[in-house]
Amino acid sequence: MAILIRGGRIVTASDDYQADIYCEGETVTRIEPSIDPASLPGDVEVIEASGKCVLPGFIDPHVHVYLPFMGTLARDDHESASKAALAGGTTTLVEMICPGPDDEPLEAFETWRSKADEGCACDYTFHMSVVRFDESAQEQFRKIVLEHGIASFKVFLAYKGALDLSDEDLFELMKMAKELGVIVSAHCENAAAVDAMQKALVAAGKTGTEWHEPSRPTCVEASGVNHITTFAELTGAHVYLVHTSCEEAVRSALEARHRGVNVWIEAVAPHLTLDKTYAEKPDFEGAKYVMSPPLRDVKNQDFLWNALASRIVSTVGTDHAPFDFEGQKPMGKDNFTLIPNGIPSLQERVDLVHTHGVKTGRIDLQTMVDACSTQAARLLGMYPRKGTIAVGSDADLVIYDPDWTGTFSLETSFSRVDYNAFEGWEKKGRAEVVTVRGAVQYRDGEFVGTPGRGQLVPRQRTHG
Ligand code: URP
Ligand code: ZN
Ligand code: ZN
Repeated sequence: MAILIRGGRIVTASDDYQADIYCEGETVTRIEPSIDPASLPGDVEVIEASGKCVLPGFIDPHVHVYLPFMGTLARDDHESASKAALAGGTTTLVEMICPGPDDEPLEAFETWRSKADEGCACDYTFHMSVVRFDESAQEQFRKIVLEHGIASFKVFLAYKGALDLSDEDLFELMKMAKELGVIVSAHCENAAAVDAMQKALVAAGKTGTEWHEPSRPTCVEASGVNHITTFAELTGAHVYLVHTSCEEAVRSALEARHRGVNVWIEAVAPHLTLDKTYAEKPDFEGAKYVMSPPLRDVKNQDFLWNALASRIVSTVGTDHAPFDFEGQKPMGKDNFTLIPNGIPSLQERVDLVHTHGVKTGRIDLQTMVDACSTQAARLLGMYPRKGTIAVGSDADLVIYDPDWTGTFSLETSFSRVDYNAFEGWEKKGRAEVVTVRGAVQYRDGEFVGTPGRGQLVPRQRTHG
């Protein structure tokens, strides 16, 4: 059925105006000051949006759904994760495919794709993690990029012995990325330094969650940024720094930018809103807040918000990685290095940015749209199909009530994880109606869509 959205305030990264939007099939076909429903052919659902904002569907550029990691499996599947995404206004997920070093990349791609295909209620694409780079793997990566439209690689400069890559392989991979015109997203920490710090702390009996941050301090992250941007400078590859948590790392990226390196910075909702004292909570509660890079000293938050306001930080993602507080986080009860890393925030991301960014005056609504949707679409080769509201774009739309107030809570969460890191926090604003390619998938707190309706979004290669 066609959809007419009437009387809303349309906010994109570049515009802010009042108009009606008409969607036929999966696409936006008309945007005009006023469209008379009586003039439209066939069945049309009319959605009144006066007093509300109409925003482009949000894109989360960094999520983990199917994630075998640190000896366990993350809690969500694609159905629960996509429902959580939609409840937070996110209509496209960019998930990390994370195979192990013995796995075949193409098989991994097919595994992740078939899981998403089966359960995902919103659209999706992937970053392809590279954890081995022998000749056979190289051939497979070429296919994944060229035949399946996956326009980004992911590398981990962390998780020693599990996901990290040798420098020789990293260099060759970056040459391939440049040749193929795809961007390399990177988890920047120095794996050897983290390993040595962890061993020293544990040997000294410092095994609690409060030691997670000291085991991987800001200089370790900045060193990772310097490492990847040096390789980018030498190979010409373009790089996207995921979950950048602190001033030192951002400054290292900016130095590279000044040298002409093509580098973009992602921040994630947990680093913008939580600080390291959460990971220091007693009685192991801090484990809910263990992720890597870790939550930092609170002063980094203002720095990140300012960097977002000035667009030094391009995107805000989540790094959603859900591990239960009961049953999974306790794997590291006696040794913080064994706690499965991750702070889930897929459903909460946009509302956290709205509450703590827009409502506090740190950023404006257009910056929120840019960081939570448009920049991801541009950088990851999906624009203007995704990331904006324009004639010809996918009808991925969020009718957002900026004046709604309530609280974040596990009770209203669609994720299968057993805690909400933001439990009881005030929430200002919420997605009221969410469409994916012209179909309403979420309305007034309820999922009303179809699991499995999501599609893989083929992406353009724009980083040659
Ligand atoms: O703590 C985190 N970030 N967990 C997920 C894996 C990763 O490094 O992105
Ligand atoms: Zn990471
Ligand atoms: Zn991640």
